This record gives sequence, C-alpha cells and structure tokens, in this order.
Amino acid sequence: MLCGNFALLEGYFRKNMQSSLDIQYTQPSYKHGLEEVNGEESFLKPSTDDINGKQPPYKPGLEGIAVTESSISYIDGHKGILEYRGIKIDELAKKENSNFVETVYLLIWGKLPIKEELNYFRTQILNAREINDKIQGMMRCFPDNGHPMHALQTSVGALSLFHPLHPLNEEAEVEIREAVVQLLAKIPTMVAGFHRLREGNNPIKPKNDLDYAANFLYMLTGGKPDNLEAQIMDICLMLHAEHTINASTFSALVTASTLTDPYTVITSAVGTLGGRRHGGANEEVLKMLENIDSVDNVRPYVEKCISRSQRIMGFGHRVYKVKDPRAKILQGLAEELFYLKGQDPYYKIAIELEKVVEEKLGEKGIYANVDFYSGLVYRKLGIPTDLFTPVFFHSNNTQLKKST
Ligand code: ACO
Repeated sequence: MLCGNFALLEGYFRKNMQSSLDIQYTQPSYKHGLEEVNGEESFLKPSTDDINGKQPPYKPGLEGIAVTESSISYIDGHKGILEYRGIKIDELAKKENSNFVETVYLLIWGKLPIKEELNYFRTQILNAREINDKIQGMMRCFPDNGHPMHALQTSVGALSLFHPLHPLNEEAEVEIREAVVQLLAKIPTMVAGFHRLREGNNPIKPKNDLDYAANFLYMLTGGKPDNLEAQIMDICLMLHAEHTINASTFSALVTASTLTDPYTVITSAVGTLGGRRHGGANEEVLKMLENIDSVDNVRPYVEKCISRSQRIMGFGHRVYKVKDPRAKILQGLAEELFYLKGQDPYYKIAIELEKVVEEKLGEKGIYANVDFYSGLVYRKLGIPTDLFTPVFFHSNNTQLKKST
C-alpha cells in the first residue's frame, strides 16, 4: 500500500529516465510565504527587487520546469492516458490481467515477473507483514482521535530505527529493495492496527492464506472479504500505485536526494500525500457528499462554490484536463459493488455533481479526478472515511522506486 512512491527507488538508482512530469503545487526555495486569497492559501510571488532586477526564475507550481523524468509511468493529460511501464492502466486493472503485487513488481523492476519471481516476491512480503512489538507498543500510545495519516507517518518513520541502514549511495540497491519489501508488507498492518487500537480492539495478525488486499480488509474488519471485495480492493491499490512525479513523489525525491534512508524518504511522502489538495481530497469528497445531502442541493452547491472561488473536492488535476482514467475505472468498480451489495445513497449525488461540474467547469479542463469515486468504493468495502488517504498511500510506495 504505497502509492506513487515507487518513483523513489528510481531516484536512488537514477538511470534511463524519460517522459512525463506532474509536479503539483511546489514552490521555489528562495521565497516563502502564504497569503489568504478568497479563504484559500496562495503562495506569495516575489517581486523583481528580490532578485536584484534579474529576470525572475520564479515559476508558480514549477510549471513547465522538469525536475526529472520517469521511465516508470507515463501520462497524457489531454487524452486521459496513464501507463505503467508502457501498459495502459485500463488493461492492467482488468481483474483477469494482473494483481497489485505483480503490478508493484512491474513498476519496480520494469517487467512483468515470471511465476517463480512473483512467488518469491509475494513470499518475501508475506513474511515481513508483522510489525515489531515495540512499534505496536508505540502505536498504543497514539491518541485515539489522532488522524490515521499522522499515525502512519510516525510509524513508518519508526521503521528506520528498527532497520538501520548504512548511508545510502547509488550502489545500495539490495538495501533499498529490502526496504521496499518491508514498507509494502508493514504499511497495511500499521494502518489496520492503528484503527483497531483506536476502537479499543487488539490488532489482528496477518493471515497467511490471504493475499495482499484481502489480508488488509481482514486485519481491518476481522472478517474475511469475499472474492469480489478482495478483487476490488486489489484493483484500487493498483490504480493508486504510481503517478509519475506527483507532489508526494516530488517530496520523496527531494528527501532521497540527501541520501537519507528509504523509511525517512517515505515518511516525507506520507506527509505530502495527506494534504487536502492531494491524496487527502478523497476524504473531503465524502464529507462534501454528506454535506450536500440530496440531489436537489447539487446545483446550488456548485454555483455557490464557483461564486466564492472555492475548490470542489475530487475535481481538477494539474496534468489531466479530461476525466482521470482512474476515476472512470473506480466509477465502474463502485457500480459493480453497488449492484451486487446494495446501493449507496451518495452515488446519485455524486453522479449529479459530476454532471453539473462538467457543465460549469468542463471548459476549464476541470473533471473528476482519482479521488472522486474512490471514497464511495472504500466506504462500501467497510473502510472508515479517515482511512481513505492511508489506503491510498498503501499502494503508493512506488515513490521509493523513483527516488532511489
Ligand atoms: N473546483 C473549482 N475550480 C477549480 C478546481 C476545483 N476542484 N480546481 C481548479 N480550479 C480552478 C482554479 O480556481 C483556477 O481558476 P482560475 O483560473 O479562474 O483562477 C483554475 O481552475 C486553475 O487552477 P490551478 O490551481 O492552477 O489548477 P491546478 O491544475 O494547479 O490544480 C488541483 C490542481 C490542486 C488538484 C486543483 O484542481 C484542486 O485543488 N482540486 C481539488 C482538490 C483535489 O481534488 N485534489 C486531488 C487531486 S488528485 C491527487 O492529487 C491524487
């Protein structure tokens, strides 16, 4: 469960990178500051005086500045295409075609594994799922009302205490691959464990006969998911596994460039993903749907947001100027779940919201992004709203690949 962060490993081993960039809301280091604009925070622009009259190198959001290239994934934001190692996400995410662990292998090592390679990788992850008693003891001290992203960030950071590494360099491939396994294996255990503890329950140990996604749902709820639930969870993880140089990957790249350890790298990525303009938007979408409450309230809600220049959560993307291909797949998964397991009253509101936003903002290139439908899927799988972003992060650890 490490989303987008496979990027990180690639940074450490930086070789042969090419193609796309989607840095979001980063700022140059020579000028800091925030101002309030219409209730939103915006970055202050430096004046020309700040740089002694020279042409300012300031580019808001680093727009148009490529900091690196990715050979792991490719995005065409105008055609709505996302590819992992040259394979379209729509193909990979078909139930019969792949699964999350295989996709991670593809992202990290650049090729689909043969059966033996996949089995070996799966076994490595399986054997590393349990977390150290001391880390669990530390998690017991976390406040019950703390946000799970903060719990995750702290717990991931603690891994560097238990898996000390020599200072990293470009040759540290073995250590970094070990860290990939540890992070992939332990993050679901940490997310589920924190949730159990805050509810006053003991964490549930991983179950060896369950695959990655099914095991997470089991550790979270205590019930074995059926095949459909496990498959849908697995596809959700695949969809969130990689996204070129997004904001959290960019954070991770910066941290990795200091040659610190991989756990610290991922800790910084968790922090960045949590923001409401990034991965944290999935949680905000559900709150927004609850707040809108009925289909009739959708149009007035959108009009109010536009008149106040407020962002509508789950819409817009720095790179996609059409509907995010992952949103299309997630919507399909939501419909499948609702058909077989019962409707969600918020789905009708979501459909209407998408229609009205498209009508009002489509010409600006603002369409549903990955966070718009993912929450509805997670909700139906029994995942609490404040765990949506940690679940997003589960799969996003490809950042480690990029920054290595
Ligand atoms: N609702 C309403 N208007 C929007 C939205 C939105 N969700 N997103 C962008 N706009 C408007 C802006 O107000 C701006 O309008 P203006 O030109 O009249 O000033 C214009 O579109 C361009 O805005 P930018 O901030 O330059 O767009 P950018 O591409 O940098 O923003 C971002 C991308 C931050 C994701 C933005 O669309 C947003 O805040 N969306 C809502 C939060 C969200 O869903 N985030 C998840 C993104 S996916 C991910 O990170 C995993």
